[in-house]
Amino acid sequence: MSDPVTDKYCVIGNPIAHSKSPQIHAAYALQTGQDLDYERCLAPVDGFEATVRRLVAEGYRGANVTVPFKLEAARLATRLAPRAAAAGAVNTLVFAGGEIVGDNTDGPGLVADIVRNAGVPLAGKRILLLGAGGAARGALLPLLMENPRQVVIANRTLATADRLAADFAEHADRLAVTAFAAVEGGFDVVINATSASLAADIPPVPPSVFGPGVLALDMMYGNKPTVFMEFAASHGASVRDGLGMLVEQAAEAFLLWRGVRPGTGAVLASMRQDG
Ligand code: ATR
Repeated sequence: MSDPVTDKYCVIGNPIAHSKSPQIHAAYALQTGQDLDYERCLAPVDGFEATVRRLVAEGYRGANVTVPFKLEAARLATRLAPRAAAAGAVNTLVFAGGEIVGDNTDGPGLVADIVRNAGVPLAGKRILLLGAGGAARGALLPLLMENPRQVVIANRTLATADRLAADFAEHADRLAVTAFAAVEGGFDVVINATSASLAADIPPVPPSVFGPGVLALDMMYGNKPTVFMEFAASHGASVRDGLGMLVEQAAEAFLLWRGVRPGTGAVLASMRQDG
């Protein structure tokens, strides 16, 4: 009889030292009684594929993928889940039966954070999605699956937003594209999927977009509110950062790998406390 072997997972990125994923997955493993190891894996910027091949050869069962490798992971996967194909990006790899299966749990994580943690159902709602890059693309299908009344995509470069909407043409009746300055109010949820917060910048939408009863969520997070969150809160909106989305996307990845979805509430609360 062979010794039981602990299943190995990791998060691949560059840089990776700051990643909170090992802490989150360790908490999930403890909570669900699953025997697994989860570590950080720094891949050279030109060495993502070689890194994945090495992990597979070493018997890893899966990996998360973060900046800057999410698009490359989608190309490398031998099979893509429909939501990963729609996103054109992969944040979760499953190594099984000789296949490298690519999935994307970022969008489902965002939806879970809004619906479960913030308690804001999206069915019948109007959503403003700021940005049209990888993060917005990953969010779009999971948002549409919640049956909102409308998703308006606003982006600095209008052509990119038009391309994103065109890729989801079967949902055209519920999609609109606009420039930041032309956005008009009346939204229930505003999601900042731009990377503007990294530069302490705010997508220049009219302040009237925010107000009481509006949930404004920034996919970014840090140890203090982003400028977007401060701006939205100063005009009356409820605000959230991207930490809940991070914790939820990890729970969705854990479910794919282990077949059990961990509870996220305590993990999110303890990470908030840690800062
Ligand atoms: P990610 O994977 O984080 O989405 P990305 O694909 O490079 O990264 O997309 C970045 C998004 O943030 C884009 O929508 C970008 O707008 P453009 O399409 O016009 O480039 C948006 N963005 C980046 N910096 C911004 C800023 N300072 N103000 C507004 N939008 C910004």
